[in-house]
Amino acid sequence: MSIDDLEKIYKKELALFEGLLHSNNLAIIILHEDASIRALNNPSFEIFHLPKDNLEGKRLGDVFPGELGVAVENIVAECKLTQSPAALEKQPYKDEQKTVFIEIKAFPVIRQNVLLGFLISGEDITERLELERQNKEGEKFRLVGELTAGVAHEINTPVHYIQNNLKYLKSVIDELTSFLSNKNTEEFQHMKMLIEDVPDAVNQSIEGIQRISGIVRSMTNYSHPGTIKPEEFDPVTAIDDAIILSSNEWKKVAKIDFIKPDTKIMLKGYSNGITQVFVNLIINACHAIKGKYKNDLSNDGKIVIKVDFNNECLRNELKIQFSDNGTGMSEEIKDKIFEPFFTTKPIGKGTGQGLAQVYSCIVKSHKGKIAVDSVEGEGSTFIIHLPLLTGES
Ligand SMILES: Nc1ncnc2c1ncn2[C@@H]1O[C@H](COP(=O)(O)OP(=O)(O)O)[C@@H](O)[C@H]1O
Ligand SMILES: [Mg+2]
Repeated sequence: MSIDDLEKIYKKELALFEGLLHSNNLAIIILHEDASIRALNNPSFEIFHLPKDNLEGKRLGDVFPGELGVAVENIVAECKLTQSPAALEKQPYKDEQKTVFIEIKAFPVIRQNVLLGFLISGEDITERLELERQNKEGEKFRLVGELTAGVAHEINTPVHYIQNNLKYLKSVIDELTSFLSNKNTEEFQHMKMLIEDVPDAVNQSIEGIQRISGIVRSMTNYSHPGTIKPEEFDPVTAIDDAIILSSNEWKKVAKIDFIKPDTKIMLKGYSNGITQVFVNLIINACHAIKGKYKNDLSNDGKIVIKVDFNNECLRNELKIQFSDNGTGMSEEIKDKIFEPFFTTKPIGKGTGQGLAQVYSCIVKSHKGKIAVDSVEGEGSTFIIHLPLLTGES
């Protein structure tokens, strides 16, 4: 074979190598055996946030940003030691605005038992994680929804007849009391005393049963299978439902003050999602209040929900303010709270999914906006704007 032939073959092989390297949207870096960079493709710069220089011959630890460099050097070392692939499955990287998650794998390149180098691949998996989270959440909601609908249905029937019977009892007692009040013998006086407290007991029972009936109504609203298409709904009812459904969380921790608008407003969207948003905000507020007052919960916790037209915006937006007087948060934490999986709570307590649902529902599903104001040690206010898609009615 002549030198010319060899050169042709070499050029063809090189072209194939280059083609393989650049023909996909995974980040790919090829390393020499000493782990210095041999070649890399364009997506690498973006996905790994590398400086746009000539990086050939450089070490990964010197070109990768911050801690990521150490982590990648480590998996290459592991890969070299074990001569088998190693991976960083969910590596967070903080961008200017948000954290992205990267999956990084290192493969040893071995031919005839000789280690020739390494291949590093990288993929931005932020969207995939978010989709997985949404799917998981959707599945959870569906199951909870089905259960709730069943329970609500079961409770509904006995509640109805207790309610009817109590009303009947009340009418009998009223009649009996008025009958007895006209009689004056000792026996009648005794009877009168006996039944004196009965009307109060019956009234209290009626009140109780009305409360149960309200809870059942909220459960039924919430467990109604979420619509695929947006539907008209009353956001005030959706928030009322959230307040009732989360009462077990806030009752011992805080008082809720819900300031409603004067006019009835209808939104177009997903009422279950909005109810869930407020359940999540209430739970977070309770955690923050508990965090601040620790065991001293002598009624200092306060949550204020205010629904209003946003006058500055010619009334085409609904403005919802949600405030608590809990721990508040630092600027650093505030920057990250809407990221999926971000939590400052211990394992088992926090999942970091509450505000990710809030963000996804308000911003993505309803094309609204959400912002947060917070002073550390004093409390937080979440400000939500939702477009009035159908106007007032
Ligand atoms: N009302 C609040 N006051 C103070 N910090 C909050 C509040 N709401 C959310 N946070 C912070 O945001 C983080 C993320 O909240 P979230 O997404 O609901 O996840 P989780 O509640 O599971 O931690 C919390 O861990 C907490 O640090
Ligand atoms: Mg939460």
